[in-house]
Amino acid sequence: MANNLLSLADFTREQLTGYIDRALTLKKESREGQRHQQLSGRIIGMIFEKPSTRTRVSFEAAMYSLGGQVIYLSSKDTQLARNEPLKDMARVMARYVDGVVVRTFGQEIVEELARYSTVPVINALTDLFHPCQILSDIMTVIEKKGAIEKLKIAWVGDGNNMANTWIQAAAEIGFELILACPSGYEPDPEILAAAQAKATRPLTVVRDPLEAVKEADVVNCDVWASMGQEDEQQERMKIFQPYQVNSELLAGAKAEMIVLHCLPAHRGEEISDEVLEGSRCVAFDQAENKLHIHKAILEKHILA
Ligand code: CP
Ligand code: NVA
Repeated sequence: MANNLLSLADFTREQLTGYIDRALTLKKESREGQRHQQLSGRIIGMIFEKPSTRTRVSFEAAMYSLGGQVIYLSSKDTQLARNEPLKDMARVMARYVDGVVVRTFGQEIVEELARYSTVPVINALTDLFHPCQILSDIMTVIEKKGAIEKLKIAWVGDGNNMANTWIQAAAEIGFELILACPSGYEPDPEILAAAQAKATRPLTVVRDPLEAVKEADVVNCDVWASMGQEDEQQERMKIFQPYQVNSELLAGAKAEMIVLHCLPAHRGEEISDEVLEGSRCVAFDQAENKLHIHKAILEKHILA
């Protein structure tokens, strides 16, 4: 099996914090004007079956700035759109490129690609997980707060791919995580149970957003309807209304609390404009850190 990044649960605490330490070093070096070339002569393929701004551009920019090159494929431009089996695509891609970055629907799709690919497969978001994003989010928390282990992290809203991945990170790295989700929109129960069995700090799901946010150091939110759930948007708008991250909700958090949002944001839905534009929100630092964490990921997976 190649050196894949499919789910954070496949990695140890040291490996996960290793990506972040390396990304912090690469960020510092690039701010100092240092040029990198360690991926010179390497090529990655990027297969994206869902839209992306940040993940696509930051992976491409990361690859180019390490001296490598990128071939971007939207699914509609490939034979996947005409039902060529994924396992065939995986084996063909591996003959041309040194790694594949994939954004798709089911987690089983990246797993199948990885099973047939002889080059590393990196998960750039599925319906179940968004592992690269959570690494850049934790990097941002560490930059702002020094460390994450003693913090209380709150998640407010949908128990979606981001929430599932935060749950895995909490169990692996060891920090307190409380998620407030409406009934029927909880995180994946198997992922939660596996993480709870491993967790060394409180890891719970509650109904009340005020309870999750109380005394929190970090408050995290995401869209109410993820990509692929557009048909549910109107219904979700009603159900999730009490879960909006706004000044009133944040009154219960610590004064020096920070707000995370992976973007894209829907102002006036999951987050108020005031909070998104306010000084406590670090969404644009998170977006920048995707570039640095992706460099660390590419170095680790494509060079190894
Ligand atoms: N946060 C994130 O993954 O953004 P994109 O969908 O723009 O890649
Ligand atoms: N939960 C969101 C994250 C977008 C980066 C989605 O899957 O659409």
